[in-house]
Amino acid sequence: MSLTAKRDRKRILVTAGPTRENIDPVRFMSNHSTGVFGYAIASEAKKRGHVVTLVSGPTALERPKGVKFVAVESALDMMRSVMREAKNADCVIMAAAVADWRPRKAAKNKIKKGSASVKLELVKNPDILAELGKKKGNKVLVGFALETEDLIKNALKKLKAKNLDIVIANKLSKKSAVFGNNPAKIAILDRFGAKEEVRAGSKARMAQIILDKALAFNI
Ligand code: C5P
Repeated sequence: MSLTAKRDRKRILVTAGPTRENIDPVRFMSNHSTGVFGYAIASEAKKRGHVVTLVSGPTALERPKGVKFVAVESALDMMRSVMREAKNADCVIMAAAVADWRPRKAAKNKIKKGSASVKLELVKNPDILAELGKKKGNKVLVGFALETEDLIKNALKKLKAKNLDIVIANKLSKKSAVFGNNPAKIAILDRFGAKEEVRAGSKARMAQIILDKALAFNI
């Protein structure tokens, strides 16, 4: 039986994992995201009885059961899927580490390694969350800010610039401490100026706290 009464059931869209930006048919640029945080949020939301869609870049994780799963590769793929799926969502939680840039054009054939250096021209990817923020409506929008310095200041900047309700500030100190199945230390900031420092805990625990906060947000 579901924990959530039907009338309280929300449609929650979660994104997770990295994106891959192709350089040629065999090579790509990506990042260290493992998807653990986003998958933990999607699983927790499902456990509570909500209707969950998970748009995920490539990860090694098992797909959470009972969740609509949309597999994507590049940031542009993710953008298309998120824009489509977000139309019906009450809440969007963007935990994906979307690549900021992509090669201007992926080479058609494998680039030969003969030359000593290769020039790669990168162009900016669209900011999916900022696009959602432009036509937000009644949706609750939650973003992540992963920073190495001035965490709170930068997180607040993102909250405003992207028109978010909530931003999860996640301090990046040592690579191993933030990516993957490691405890997370987060602060939750909202559009009304509330700031909650959360004691470090597992990502599954953080997922519960994030969902409590997001679902309490006028939806
Ligand atoms: O600006 P920054 O990349 O640090 O913002 C992080 C937040 O924005 C995350 O929630 C991430 O999923 C989202 N994002 C996005 N599209 C991008 C870059 C980031 O939706 N191109």
